[in-house]
Amino acid sequence: MSPRAPDRLRLGVNIDHVATIRNARGGAHPEPLRAAEAAIAAGADGITAHLREDRRHISDRDIDALNELCRRLDRPLNFEMAVTDEMLAIALSHKPHAACLVPERREERTTEGGLDVARGHNTVAPVVKALREAGVRVSLFIEANPIQIAVAEAMGAQVVELHTGAYCDAVKAGDGVAAARWLGQLKDGAEEAARRGLEVHAGHGIDFDSVAAVAAIPQVAELNIGHFLIGEAIFIGLPSAISRMRTLMDEARGA
Ligand code: PXP
Repeated sequence: MSPRAPDRLRLGVNIDHVATIRNARGGAHPEPLRAAEAAIAAGADGITAHLREDRRHISDRDIDALNELCRRLDRPLNFEMAVTDEMLAIALSHKPHAACLVPERREERTTEGGLDVARGHNTVAPVVKALREAGVRVSLFIEANPIQIAVAEAMGAQVVELHTGAYCDAVKAGDGVAAARWLGQLKDGAEEAARRGLEVHAGHGIDFDSVAAVAAIPQVAELNIGHFLIGEAIFIGLPSAISRMRTLMDEARGA
C-alpha cells in the first residue's frame, strides 16, 4: 500500500480567469490580487497562477503582487509555468513557494494534456534542477501514466499534479464508462506516485460534480481548481463557490 496524504486535502485556487475578465477591457477591474485575498479569506489554502508566454491573462505585475501577498499572508503561491528560459528566469527571480511545470502551446485554449516528461526529459530535467537548487518546490503536471511518474521521480520533482481533464470531461458528458476508466487511471497513478515518494496533486476541469471522486483518492494532498470556481462566482459569489467546494472536498475525505 502506498502512503496516504493527510486527511485534510488542500485547495489551491487558480485565479487566472479573473485576469481574463479584467483583460477583456484593458483596465484594472476585476483585480486578481483582490480575488486572491477573497479566496484566502474564504478558505483557499494557496493561490495558483499561470503566467503564460503570451500573457493572455496573468501579467508579470500580477505575479509580483501575488507573490508579495502570499508571503505576507504566509500562504503558498503555486506558479504555473512553461518550460522555457524566460519563465525559469522569472521563477528564479521570485522564488515562489512552488512551481508547477506545464505544457504550453499558443494555439490551445487551456492546458491540454499533461507535460510529456519522458519525451522532454532533456529540456525539463535542468529546469527541475535549477528550481530545486533555488529552494522552489517542483511539481510536474502530467498524465496519470506510470512511465511519466517514474521519469518525474527520476528527475527529482517533489510533486506530480495529475491531469484530471479527461475524467472531468467524461463526467460533464454523462459518460459513466469513460469516467470510471479515467478515474481508475487517476487512482492507479496516485498510488504509484505516492509509492515512489512523490506528493500527489490533481487538477484541471474540476467542478462540483467531479470533485468528490478525485478528493476521495487517499494519496491526493492538493487540488488546484480555477475556471469553474471563477465562473460559478458570477452566480453565487467567490466565497460561496470556494466554501461549497471546500465542503464537498471535506465530505469526500470523510473529514
Ligand atoms: N492545474 C494546472 C496545472 C493547470 O494548468 C490548470 C489550468 O490552468 C489547473 C490546475 C486548473 O484547471 P481549471 O481552471 O480547469 O480548474
